[in-house]
Amino acid sequence: MARFLTPTRLFSALYTVLACTLRVHSNVFHIPTTAQNGTSVAQFTSTTSGLDAPKVQPINGSAFDWWYFDVVSTDPSNLASVVVIFFTSGQTGFPFLPPADTIIQASLEVSFPNGTILPRIVVPGEEGALITTKGDSTSGDWLGTGFSFTGNGSTNLEYEVHIDAPDVGVKGTLTFSAVGFTPMNIWMLT
Ligand SMILES: *[C@@H]1O[C@H](CO)[C@@H](O)[C@H](O)[C@H]1NC(C)=O
Ligand SMILES: *[C@@H]1O[C@H](CO)[C@@H](O)[C@H](O)[C@H]1NC(C)=O
Ligand SMILES: *[C@@H]1O[C@H](CO)[C@@H](O)[C@H](O)[C@H]1NC(C)=O
Ligand SMILES: *[C@@H]1O[C@H](CO)[C@@H](O)[C@H](O)[C@H]1NC(C)=O
Repeated sequence: MARFLTPTRLFSALYTVLACTLRVHSNVFHIPTTAQNGTSVAQFTSTTSGLDAPKVQPINGSAFDWWYFDVVSTDPSNLASVVVIFFTSGQTGFPFLPPADTIIQASLEVSFPNGTILPRIVVPGEEGALITTKGDSTSGDWLGTGFSFTGNGSTNLEYEVHIDAPDVGVKGTLTFSAVGFTPMNIWMLT
């Protein structure tokens, strides 16, 4: 007996393929607040997806991973800048962090157009971080800190950094549009 794919079966088959494809490329990482004992494994080579996914797993006491967003003015007479960093690291892994009981930390550095630099703000996260990747898009929520970022699409990659942290008096959004294909994630084991 000949077997044919009816439109319904064809749709169902396509749906299954699509669902598998989406499932393959989507990943959720829940990073706990404590550094883990034992060996961290770092990913040193690029793969076809997950460009800005976590690259060191798990984070042990001497490892760090970060998502670093940096803005400067293109006008040389304007000294405004903003640096927002999402860390999964403690002070033993990244010595420039203040001591904290959590490896989930978000930092903000701001300078005004006149060059005045505000004191650095580092917000500790006590609920862990949730990082979601889909293809080359990555989103991260440093739970409970008010700091998060979202990325969408790998061809017209855009990142938005959101800060809504009334405890430290900061609220705002930074938007980044890709002008070329540049890896935005740097990682290191020490
Ligand atoms: C790591 O090991 C120490 C000493 O055995 C233990 O107290 C601590 O709970 C462990 N940490 C984790 C995250 O498992
Ligand atoms: C973390 O893992 C790395 C290797 O993957 C190892 O060299 C290092 O000693 C580990 N650090 C700690 C504190 O266990
Ligand atoms: C620099 O600019 C900031 C923000 O507008 C302002 O608060 C500060 O007083 C200025 N500093 C000086 C030295 O003018
Ligand atoms: C990404 O999101 C921004 C708004 O946040 C939107 O303007 C842009 O078109 C989106 N890009 C893609 C590729 O979806």
